[in-house]
Amino acid sequence: CGIIGYIGAGNETLSVLMGGLNNLEYRGYDSAGIAVGGSSLSVVKRSGEIEALEAALNGHSIAGSLGIGHTRWSTHGPPTNANAHPHTSESGAVAVVHNGIIENYEALKQELQAEGVTFQSDTDTEVVPHLIERERTRGADPETAFRRAVAQLEGSYALAAVIAGTDAVFAVRNDSPLVLGIGQDGYFLGSDVPAFLEYTDQVVYLDDGEMVTLTQSQYSVTDLDGTPVDTTVETVDWDIEDTGKSGYEHYMLKEIHEQPTALRQTLSGRVNEQAGTVELEDLDGLAGREPAGVQLVACGTSYHAALYGARMLREQGIPATATIASEYALERPPVADQLVVGVTQSGETADTLSALRTAAQRGAETVAVTNVVGSTAARECDHALYIRAGPEIGVAATKTFSSQLVTLRLLTEHLTNGTTDGIHDRLATLRALPGALQEVLDETQAPAVAEEYVGADGYFFIGRGYNYPVSLEGALKFKEITYEHAEGFPAGELKHGTLALVTNETPVIATVTGNDEAARKTVGNVKEVEARDAPVIAVTDGQTDVARYADHVLEIPDSHPTTAPILANTQLQLFAYHMANELGRAIDKPRNLAKSVTVE
Ligand code: G6P
Repeated sequence: CGIIGYIGAGNETLSVLMGGLNNLEYRGYDSAGIAVGGSSLSVVKRSGEIEALEAALNGHSIAGSLGIGHTRWSTHGPPTNANAHPHTSESGAVAVVHNGIIENYEALKQELQAEGVTFQSDTDTEVVPHLIERERTRGADPETAFRRAVAQLEGSYALAAVIAGTDAVFAVRNDSPLVLGIGQDGYFLGSDVPAFLEYTDQVVYLDDGEMVTLTQSQYSVTDLDGTPVDTTVETVDWDIEDTGKSGYEHYMLKEIHEQPTALRQTLSGRVNEQAGTVELEDLDGLAGREPAGVQLVACGTSYHAALYGARMLREQGIPATATIASEYALERPPVADQLVVGVTQSGETADTLSALRTAAQRGAETVAVTNVVGSTAARECDHALYIRAGPEIGVAATKTFSSQLVTLRLLTEHLTNGTTDGIHDRLATLRALPGALQEVLDETQAPAVAEEYVGADGYFFIGRGYNYPVSLEGALKFKEITYEHAEGFPAGELKHGTLALVTNETPVIATVTGNDEAARKTVGNVKEVEARDAPVIAVTDGQTDVARYADHVLEIPDSHPTTAPILANTQLQLFAYHMANELGRAIDKPRNLAKSVTVE
């Protein structure tokens, strides 16, 4: 979900809130709403995309110097108007927006109902405005009422509240992101910086247990007891341009094309080719101190990056595993002398945070590999290693995946600094990677190939070695945005079952790079599917003769075995994108998916 809050002079409130909601839409979009304050509150909310809210607001002028807004991704209750945020108290004098889950809401709801309070929604959030109102009727001033209400909550929350007749916005965070923006003529709240980036780049990242009160003239941050907390104002160096589409039809396509730049940023200042070393300031204290093992934890696309990273670490002599974060927390593997690395572009994925916390509680040293400075993972882990991909708006991860792969390469080199063979080669191909990727973007045949295979029964993605996680990612991306059935496999595994599904209606997308034994064996697997009349699309650098058995070839330039998969993946991204575009799908915000899933 996404939160925006604002207080300021002038009459910009409605446009700030609506702009913020549009900027945050990628965080969730099954309903949206706003509350604008003054002597009374105006609350408007609608299920559906933000357009539905805009239509409802059409023609109404809602004036006020402060307000809050929300886009929702359901956790409790279906996406209806009543379940949309803001939620209000019975008198309508308190409005609240919330991300996260109030775990003890049922007990609180029963207590309030026993006192005669009527609930309007199925949400956990609705207890909050009722609790604030109860404190108000007991005589508390607005700020104290908010604080006392929050003290009764258990669970995860970023909350913002406005109260009729009170010239202030109150907010608090616990286990859910919340950022304060300091503008020239007003203050902002956002669950993420893009919410208000067009107004200010001065931000304070709030910590768990911190509460903020915004008035026209100042902001104050305190702990839950009201003791002031020292804060640091940081400057965000994201350009406002970065969050627009810059002329591309979709954010996803723009972000695919931003990959060369993103990778240059990822590498910048970190590689010393001459010395054959990788220097990661973010990880001071870890260099040359090889851990006994590395456990990578992640979800979704980041898990595919973790598989790639684990393989690379193992190849360079460090025992490493990649585990899906939601399973890791259950397994609780031994962590003595292990480095536990959470790979999470947002730094806010609840499953990954929970796995990292499990590891930390048991004494592991932790690293967050993340794109978001100040994210929860970055702050909670012992070390934060930033992938520096810049903001990614498309729900389907693209440039952050490439940057994760390169960052994990850097992490591997850093941990084994200068001690493994072939480092000079590997570093030189990393330097060449952005240029090679640009070549793929300039010369790709993916649009034409995608067009040819619209409407097939299913799509199988195969590859071995580093091309195995890439095939998993190719299939995931394809499913996410085309809504067509796809599966990714290690190429050797297809014959152990799924071959039964292979027909002339199931294109097989084979990624074959280099010309080692793995590549040659994959060519063998391609022959098997070709013999069963499956159309074959080969993504290849041309080092094997796979093209002979393929109906189409998506070419990539020659590269190193560890970087070729990044180039191949770009072809798979484009293949998925153009197929989804042919099908007219909601590419930047596919149905049922959220960019950042902050519930377990
Ligand atoms: C969600 C997104 C996926 C993403 C996953 C992990 O499910 O839809 O695209 O890969 O979360 O996100 P993270 O921010 O932890 O990398």
